[in-house]
Amino acid sequence: MELKNDLLIRAAKGEQVERTPVWVMRQAGRVLPEYRATRARAGSFIHLVRTPELACEVTLQPVDILGVDAAIIFSDILVIPEALGLPYEMDEGKGPRFAEVIRTAQDVSRLSTTEIPLKLDYVSKAIQLTKTELNGRVPLIGFAGAPFTIFCYMVEGQGSKEFSKARRMLRENPILAHSLLSKISEATIEYLKMQITAGANLIQLFDSWAGVLGPDLYKEFALPYIKQIFNSIPEVPRTIFAKGAWFASEWFAESELETIGFDWTVTPQQARAWSGNKTVQGNLDPSALYGSFEDIKKSTKEMLQNFGTQKHIANLGHGVYPDIHPDNLKCFIDTIKNNQTNQI
Ligand code: CP3
Repeated sequence: MELKNDLLIRAAKGEQVERTPVWVMRQAGRVLPEYRATRARAGSFIHLVRTPELACEVTLQPVDILGVDAAIIFSDILVIPEALGLPYEMDEGKGPRFAEVIRTAQDVSRLSTTEIPLKLDYVSKAIQLTKTELNGRVPLIGFAGAPFTIFCYMVEGQGSKEFSKARRMLRENPILAHSLLSKISEATIEYLKMQITAGANLIQLFDSWAGVLGPDLYKEFALPYIKQIFNSIPEVPRTIFAKGAWFASEWFAESELETIGFDWTVTPQQARAWSGNKTVQGNLDPSALYGSFEDIKKSTKEMLQNFGTQKHIANLGHGVYPDIHPDNLKCFIDTIKNNQTNQI
């Protein structure tokens, strides 16, 4: 299926674009009342994720309602621990929780990396359905959590500010930590290959907790696995978003991937300087969307100017906050779409 709007793919590959493409991390769910309606019909978040027709429906909502230049398949990064044998629950208003966590070599050996595509078949079906419904309107982004971020949840059992239990394991038992990270990576590779076969046009890895590691630990426990995963999926453009790990961008710049995402603590000038020739993605502070339309337009235009017209994918510096008004998010998106006819 030929894409009618392939701005995202061209920008990711460093090809020339007429205008900067835009999508928003966590665009499905969170801010749209239409999402909440589907979610209420589904009964639970996990049921929504596991039902291809419903996952497809909420994947399309931001394309139809907000007019973004890409869809991102509705799922969660935590389907990988589940497929490995560590199921999660989503506590209303509190976030994910695991009944069991990983502490010992026995715990790791019980995790199974076989038949990952079969166990996550519902994601494959959701992607195929979404591709049919999109009918080439915009590309579809597939994703997974980066291994260290998944490791954090599997060891900690829930969200955390510091992830000290996870970091403790890196210090106390690095061999055990590596064996868990290897299993996560192996499963993630199978999972992403499945997403590409089903029709994902670009893959993003979310390393949401990268920022709890310093450069040395990141280099030892996070970077090698990200490289291993990306080296296994050369078929599509690849994006890394490692929140808080600005120091890793020069390593990413030397790696086999196309786009480096940045959070809002980095200036566009710094992002450019650290990214070599790669495309950069980001990075408006999500809290900028609490401002007036005038303020949103001003900071969005500033961001566009600072990144320049090419090799940039506009996005927020992290997921959109749940209490942002959809009109404010739309103002961000429209400002990008209306701002420029890029000079080539
Ligand atoms: O981007 C999208 O809109 C696609 C769907 C998507 C979800 N989660 C749906 C979701 C994506 C890409 C994710 C990724 C994800 N999940 C990350 C990485 C991105 C980031 O924000 O850093 C992380 C850390 C998770 C784990 C997770 N899932 C948490 C911490 C929570 C609870 C709080 C929250 O809303 O973020 C979830 C639940 C979740 N995942 C929801 C949605 C729409 C809300 C659940 C609900 O509807 O009740």
